[in-house]
Amino acid sequence: MRRFPDSPEYTGLNTPLGEEYEIPDLAIEGRIPAEVEGVFFRAVPDPAFPPFMPDGAAVLSGDGMISAIRIAGGKASFAIRYVQTERHRAELAAGRALFGKYRNPFTDRGEAAGLDRTVANTTPVWHAGRLLMTKEDGRPYHVDPRTLETLGSYDFGGKLKSQTVTAHVRIDPETGELFFYGYEADGLASTKVAYCLVDRHGVLVREQWFDVPYCSMMHDFTITRNYALFPVYPTTCDAQRLRAGGDHWVHEMDRDSWVGVMPRYGTVADMRWFRGPKGVSCYHMMNAFEDTEGRIQFDQCLSSVNAFPFIQRASGLSIPPGETGGRLERWSLDLSQDGDRVTATVIGPPGDFPVIPASAQGRPYEHAWMLTMNPQMQGPPVAGGPVGAMFNMLLRLDFAGKPMQALALPAAHCFNEPVHVPSARAGHEGWLLTVVDRQTGPSEFEHALWIIDAGNVGAGPVAKAAIPHRLRPQVHGWWTAAAELAAAA
Ligand SMILES: [Fe+2]
Repeated sequence: MRRFPDSPEYTGLNTPLGEEYEIPDLAIEGRIPAEVEGVFFRAVPDPAFPPFMPDGAAVLSGDGMISAIRIAGGKASFAIRYVQTERHRAELAAGRALFGKYRNPFTDRGEAAGLDRTVANTTPVWHAGRLLMTKEDGRPYHVDPRTLETLGSYDFGGKLKSQTVTAHVRIDPETGELFFYGYEADGLASTKVAYCLVDRHGVLVREQWFDVPYCSMMHDFTITRNYALFPVYPTTCDAQRLRAGGDHWVHEMDRDSWVGVMPRYGTVADMRWFRGPKGVSCYHMMNAFEDTEGRIQFDQCLSSVNAFPFIQRASGLSIPPGETGGRLERWSLDLSQDGDRVTATVIGPPGDFPVIPASAQGRPYEHAWMLTMNPQMQGPPVAGGPVGAMFNMLLRLDFAGKPMQALALPAAHCFNEPVHVPSARAGHEGWLLTVVDRQTGPSEFEHALWIIDAGNVGAGPVAKAAIPHRLRPQVHGWWTAAAELAAAA
């Protein structure tokens, strides 16, 4: 019998489930649009074994599970399996947890020495017919998109030098190239960052390393048509703290944030650093693009402090969730001017899990979607996920002057991150697919896939597929069209 601590990381919606299963035919309410054909891959952390030491960051260490919601001919099926990481296999063989605190091998049991610590639990990435399960602390795992079987750790055919690959990559919509990076590229607390380019056939063609101003939790980055942008926020790591058994991350309010900008096909020697405000934090960038004057516009879900409660605790900070200064903020970077200043403009409300059409990546764009908390919500949000509270409102943001649209969930409901499915119809904005959780008791939940018209989110779902099984919160997802899957096979 697995006994997990009675703390928020392991109770309620976050209760570990640890089950691999398939449900062939989900009950559908409404009608799934005919053009929604493909697979919604989802990364779901789920710790297989109870921890053997307290760790505030344990929510980030759940073993990665890969879930697939397959949609074809108006029907949907569900499957979920563990990613068979080296770490998961070692713990299965031992029958107990072997790895200690989040990204601190000095806290591991002896049997864990030398083993790959990553749990591959953050984003399923599809590129060049290949499905990778990623987490920023290690290399990805290659997964069979049909069977969800793990094929092994992936290093691009032996070419990758970096020890890490982050969970947020960017794919150019015209060239099909994959841009990614890895930080702490040569080990713990390092300032080395690897910047990599993979061609549309999946071949790693360039890897360049550079130093960031300090070792930072670099969760996401962006590209434009001509540039790569590397934001650095002051959530920092220190080797001495790790050796003493401490936390990987603390947030430093008095430190500058930075954005490194370089021509995306250039060399890291061309990197130019712009200085942002002190103490700010961001996990996800919405997009970046070059405007008609050649300035870079960089849009991010920014907050005035790191919003993770456990990082605040480790940093001696205690800022209530409503007071973290969240906003969608645009930083303008003018490469034609000297100096290192950014011009900041608030362009949207607080929120996270930004979604753009894949075709808008790195380009000027008119609309996007993101999750937020309903400011008019009666009653508390559903507790769960890494931050401790789940989002309950979906927004369609418009940057071309149209009003914002919102879909507010009823009490005791919450959203997981949506994926966008493009439409073939001219002028149609496509579809959003998202798993919605509904709390029906202290530890009781119901779950369903909702399919929403992306251009009319306020109208609510056009179809729902009930998932008759308990689910743990998803981190990120990825939509792979049926045609892409068929081409890969
Ligand atoms: Fe993320």
